[in-house]
Amino acid sequence: MDNNIENSNLDKKEIKSVNRREFLSKSALLGAGIVASPIAFANEKNSSEKIEGSKSAFKMDKRMLGALEVSPIGLGCMSMKSGSYNPPRDTKEMIPVIRGAFDLGVNFFDTAEVYGPFTDEELVGEALQPIRDKVVIASKFGFELSTGSRGGRNSRPENIRKAVEGMLKRLRTDRIDLLYLHRLDPNVPIEDVAGTVKDLIKEGKALHFGLSEVSPTTIRKAHAEQPVAALQSEYSIIQRALENEVIDICGELGIGFVPWGPVCRGFLGDKFNEHSRFSSDSRLSQVPYFTPEAIEAHMEVLSLVREWGRKKDATPAQIALAWVMAQKPFIVPIPGTTKLHHVKENQGALNVTFSDTELKEFRNALEQIKLVGVRGPETALVDQ
Ligand SMILES: NC(=O)c1ccc[n+]([C@@H]2O[C@H](COP(=O)([O-])OP(=O)(O)OC[C@H]3O[C@@H](n4cnc5c(N)ncnc54)[C@H](OP(=O)(O)O)[C@@H]3O)[C@@H](O)[C@H]2O)c1
Repeated sequence: MDNNIENSNLDKKEIKSVNRREFLSKSALLGAGIVASPIAFANEKNSSEKIEGSKSAFKMDKRMLGALEVSPIGLGCMSMKSGSYNPPRDTKEMIPVIRGAFDLGVNFFDTAEVYGPFTDEELVGEALQPIRDKVVIASKFGFELSTGSRGGRNSRPENIRKAVEGMLKRLRTDRIDLLYLHRLDPNVPIEDVAGTVKDLIKEGKALHFGLSEVSPTTIRKAHAEQPVAALQSEYSIIQRALENEVIDICGELGIGFVPWGPVCRGFLGDKFNEHSRFSSDSRLSQVPYFTPEAIEAHMEVLSLVREWGRKKDATPAQIALAWVMAQKPFIVPIPGTTKLHHVKENQGALNVTFSDTELKEFRNALEQIKLVGVRGPETALVDQ
């Protein structure tokens, strides 16, 4: 089965579940005593998905990533053009999703040079050009892309500089608000990477420095050379390895934490079920927590999430995001989606709160569930 067929099947399943989710999403807003009003679309003409709601419907307290202020939930743009979890989407269909997210209060957009490669940054640049000064753009370097496709890791200073020059063009901007190292290059000392970013910051081409999937030792070394604003690594109700030291180190050093995969690549958005299987050409087939055995085991987590959703009039995706945000005030998830109604649903997580007692109760139940194929805590201590 090819990836397109697989994904079109997924999309059919989603269509069936949307009405229920839309209902739950609305009830979360109503439950919070909030009246929805029509939003002004940045690009009404191209909008294929119309939704109701406005940013005034969500509690929009900003969060800090180091010295960088961002909306409490960002938007992961990876799969829009890279096709990681779905066939690559048309630019004209994705621009309204990005601009619609901004209208709903999202001002933090995540992409990377390697997504596509390049095409995802081009999309993000085009979508955000009219509102450039009102948004925070994050992108990442760290791979060899000179042949036009993804090679090995390459964070030599000259490659970082080349990457940034390309980013500035593709993103249609004169500065990258948050410039991340995507993956550590074992051949380049982290101090050299941080030093190069420090120079780029002095030149005004980047404003803040970020890291992704690195160890506590690397975080500390990098931070000593150039203050790190954010660490972006995988974290969700299911994938909790980073609770081993890393999140605490972020708190200690004043570094923001940006979980990728916060809805567990769709699983905690109720996108799959125990019968879901991924074809060998799908990226999801490579994910160890999506083997048939793992999916079956994790249905228990989904049941727990659904149960909390019923208690709080929230959808599973909203519970997944609210739970992550409730762990620390410096956590800013960036759920990825290609659908504006999912952006709206995800923003509804801002109206879902957990008391300390509820967080304990949730965790106690979670710790009873045996997880399969997730990273062990020891993996948090080494560079990925
Ligand atoms: N630093 C890194 O190494 C790294 C690695 C991976 C990703 N990232 C970044 O992090 C972002 C998020 O991570 P991710 O995309 O891997 O995982 P994710 O956000 O947990 O999951 C994305 C998947 O969830 C689905 N989804 C989102 N909201 C939903 C909802 N309300 N209901 C049902 N399904 C929903 C999306 O499908 P639909 O399109 O159908 O909504 C998409 O397939 C990426 O976009 C990327 O920018 C960074």
